[in-house]
Amino acid sequence: MTSTTTLLHPYTKTTDVLVIGSGIAGLSIALKLAQNHRVLVLAKSAVHEGSTSYAQGGIAAVLDPFDSIDAHIRDTEVAGAGLCDEKAVAVVATHAAEEILQLVQFGVNFTTEGANAQNFPYHLTKEGGHSHRRVIHVADHTGLSVAQALINQVQQHPNIELLPEHMSIDLILNRKRNRCMGAYVLNKTENQVYALTASFTVLATGGASKAYLYTSNPDTSTGDGIAMAWRAGCRVANLEFNQFHPTCLYHPKDRSFLITEAVRGEGGILRLPNGTPFMRDYDPRADLAPRDIVARAIDQEMKKHGIDCVYLDISHKPAKFIKQHFPTIYERCKKVGIDMTKECIPVVPAAHYTCGGVITNLEGKTDLEGLYAIGETACTGLHGANRLASNSLAEGLVFAKLAHQSIEKSFSALAEHTFEAKPWDTSGITDPKEKIMVSHDWDEVRRVMWDYVGIVRTNRRLKRALKRIRTLQNEINEYYHQHTLSSDLLELRNLTMVAELMVLCAQKRKESRGLHYNLDYPQTAKQARSTILKPSKKPPISRKVKTHPR
Ligand code: FAD
Ligand code: SIN
Repeated sequence: MTSTTTLLHPYTKTTDVLVIGSGIAGLSIALKLAQNHRVLVLAKSAVHEGSTSYAQGGIAAVLDPFDSIDAHIRDTEVAGAGLCDEKAVAVVATHAAEEILQLVQFGVNFTTEGANAQNFPYHLTKEGGHSHRRVIHVADHTGLSVAQALINQVQQHPNIELLPEHMSIDLILNRKRNRCMGAYVLNKTENQVYALTASFTVLATGGASKAYLYTSNPDTSTGDGIAMAWRAGCRVANLEFNQFHPTCLYHPKDRSFLITEAVRGEGGILRLPNGTPFMRDYDPRADLAPRDIVARAIDQEMKKHGIDCVYLDISHKPAKFIKQHFPTIYERCKKVGIDMTKECIPVVPAAHYTCGGVITNLEGKTDLEGLYAIGETACTGLHGANRLASNSLAEGLVFAKLAHQSIEKSFSALAEHTFEAKPWDTSGITDPKEKIMVSHDWDEVRRVMWDYVGIVRTNRRLKRALKRIRTLQNEINEYYHQHTLSSDLLELRNLTMVAELMVLCAQKRKESRGLHYNLDYPQTAKQARSTILKPSKKPPISRKVKTHPR
């Protein structure tokens, strides 16, 4: 079935499928859906801006005949500390390879130099927690190359309309039918809110690592999809498991920049300032232990020695090899005066990946009819308590495929194709006199999360964090309902909400597991259980002074 994109009201648009997000998950599903339907794809800033474009290491898949699906499943489950959903793991491990071949057809030039698997033309690198070389990559800029290829395809497709600088605010709901009918969207260029209605809506909005002061993520990772789904009444899970990447470039005056785990995969060693390697004291897998273990070890060494960073050393490898495999990192380090072919790189852990998110089934379906969630915003059960390196891009690709199949099936069963939405209500809204409150609250929430909900937690720190975050939330909600919208304000509202959900999940977990380490509960429970949060019956969207849609 195909209905054309039509204008019903000056600020209303309708389409078949609304995809919110233009990362690997959003663009992949858009291309599949566009074979039969009209698709609108939103990006809240530039189309390429999102974590996908920054991905370095690569995509995990079983591509070497000497590797096996079983081994990929086992590695994912070991890294996930017993909490992975075995069906989600099996489905990703089984289908990742065919989606990668599709990327090759779209023109992604995966690295061939040093190809190391039998009868396979591409180089496979290794990362922490993998028992086999299974990470296909484009040097150290895999994400950028994949994003460019997908964007090229999408831009040429007659059934896809790409809307950059369009930020979704909240989902449009039919409460009686428990159905999502699209989203209210801020057109940032016009500063105008549109009601975009659709038969199906896909949240592909990425993660929430910007909740932390130091992060490897771009500015887009503010948890918007998680917050929108929660406000709409969807359950969320496992948000206590925010992954800290062990090695981000440490430079007091520079923004965090990731140093890919593939550097350790190709022989890089973590050292103390005096040159002593330390990872073997923590785990027999040493520098290639899963991320939760390496990040915690670095944190402990930094605290023990009172140092600002540790050092990553790959200078023993030939300079030619380093420049060929890590050209982006080499250039970036050079910019801040470090020659990684000759000296160590100063590194610290930083918030990197949101393992939890909106609960979905194996088709990407959420608790709301018509609403799907895929990519980092979703909690499919794949990552458990700690994501295995390079499984995220694979998850984005595979769940785009599964959600596409499910939407395709559901289209034929859908009785109604046109949905009406009430226009956005701006009565009683004024321009803010000053913006200091928004910028102050941004800093505060991120610092609170870094200081109290970081790599090592305690009950006291979590309690303190929740108190501060709730105070901030009340202030922000009041401000939100009285003032003209801006993307800054919308992101702050979402980020603070997701920060609260992260703390609530952390408080519910009375053990330490994977990425969640609480000094008050250092033991791991015998049985692994997900932390599930359910919104109250009366959704928080209508809790406050005034709701926007009349
Ligand atoms: P994203 O790529 O983050 O895209 C989110 C999209 O949603 C953006 O287009 C954004 O504009 C849009 N959006 C968000 N909110 C709204 C809103 N309210 N309205 C409209 N649009 C919105 N994973 C791997 O598997 N391998 C790697 O090598 C790897 N390296 C990484 C390196 C870095 C530095 C980082 C940050 C992450 C890395 N990851 C890696 C993780 C991986 O890149 C991400 O998990 C993955 O790209 C997420 O894809 P996504 O499509 O879910 O979201
Ligand atoms: C990296 O290249 O180290 C990041 C890989 C990932 O996050 O999966």
